Amino acid sequence: MTDFSQTRAAFDLPEGVIYLDGNSLGPLPRSAAERVARMMTQEWGRLLIRGWNEAGWYVQPRRVGDRIAPLIGAEPGSVVMGDTLSVKVFQALSAAVEMRPERRVILSDSGNFPSDLYVAQELVAALDRGADRGVDRGVDREPDLGLELRIVAPEEVEAAIDDSIAVTLLTEVDYRTGRLHDMAALTARAHAAGALTIWDLAHSAGALPVRLAEAGADFAVGCTYKYLNGGPGAPAFIYVDPRHADAARPALAGWMGHAAPFAFDPHWTPASGIERMRVGTPPVLALTALEAALDIWEGVSLDALRQESIRLSEAFIAAVAARLPGLPLASPREPERRGSQVSFRHPDAYAIVQALIARGVIGDFRAPDIMRFGFTPLYLTLVETEKAADLLADVVLTEAWNQPEYRIRAQVT
Ligand SMILES: Cc1ncc(COP(=O)(O)O)c(C=O)c1O
Repeated sequence: MTDFSQTRAAFDLPEGVIYLDGNSLGPLPRSAAERVARMMTQEWGRLLIRGWNEAGWYVQPRRVGDRIAPLIGAEPGSVVMGDTLSVKVFQALSAAVEMRPERRVILSDSGNFPSDLYVAQELVAALDRGADRGVDRGVDREPDLGLELRIVAPEEVEAAIDDSIAVTLLTEVDYRTGRLHDMAALTARAHAAGALTIWDLAHSAGALPVRLAEAGADFAVGCTYKYLNGGPGAPAFIYVDPRHADAARPALAGWMGHAAPFAFDPHWTPASGIERMRVGTPPVLALTALEAALDIWEGVSLDALRQESIRLSEAFIAAVAARLPGLPLASPREPERRGSQVSFRHPDAYAIVQALIARGVIGDFRAPDIMRFGFTPLYLTLVETEKAADLLADVVLTEAWNQPEYRIRAQVT
């Protein structure tokens, strides 16, 4: 039995705030501040450069990857940390297209996060330019076989997988609506067509059980600042199926992914396995905060987490629907088709979210008209959930949002 009152006590949440934005940035774990301070004073301060060996900074990206692995159903030794999620998308995608040189289509969907689509667009353009200039990357791709990024509606993905597809690039949980793709079914379908799969788990890791190995996923990437509570700018993770790990070549290579970084060889020889996905010097301070945050998951059952997340999100939807029956739900109504967030649409969504924040309920806004609310059983209770729904209804029904100060758009929404 997972005791969520115990996990809640592990977070330093401001008094009077109901936090429904852990799907964007998780709150501060109490132990993280102390752990980072200790690392700074005792490791960095005392050990100086010796910390890389004596405090285990060099092996930290793998050590932390091994702690993420059980949360995403990955094999030990198949996950490594570093960089940002966008960078890891680039590495996975460039490696995957090289593993299917006879195929020309990258398949994604219109619900995917824009950064993933930008990475894919620019990779396609760069490989085209390389082909035009006869750049030899050691891959036997026909010169006239340019790559194409094909974007279909999320519900059309399955039907769009055919034998032209090199790789599918999909985010399991839609960042706007919370719609959940069926990872096992789509991976099976892709494999039957001879394609590879890349799963972006930004809104899945720590939000619901993920079973990468069971699904046979080829690559997965994700961030750690949302449901894993690693802090703003916390490093990303990348997973490569152990069957591919010694074949995958990320076009973005760096010295720490070399087989012998300290040989300073001018030619890149990839390290064996997942280690080759490392690029440069890891962010040790950020990884230390994340390590503290991961302690909270010890003893947490992901199935219990999922059950509680559904209980909270269903309660929220029911309470909002009771008072605001006309407010359109942007998320799927069936809980098994959602991740751990609930979104509603309103033409004045931005101002409503600001008015709610002023009343202590923190959610967020995604253009053009989405109000997003994340449900995070590690620290959110049913009482808070119901109170948040009530406050949302009050703000909408009284038009309390209709104030000039709530319309001022901040840089980050
Ligand atoms: C689904 C998804 N993919 C990619 C990204 C980009 O991540 P990063 O800014 O860490 O590169 C985000 C950011 O929120 C995201 O939600």
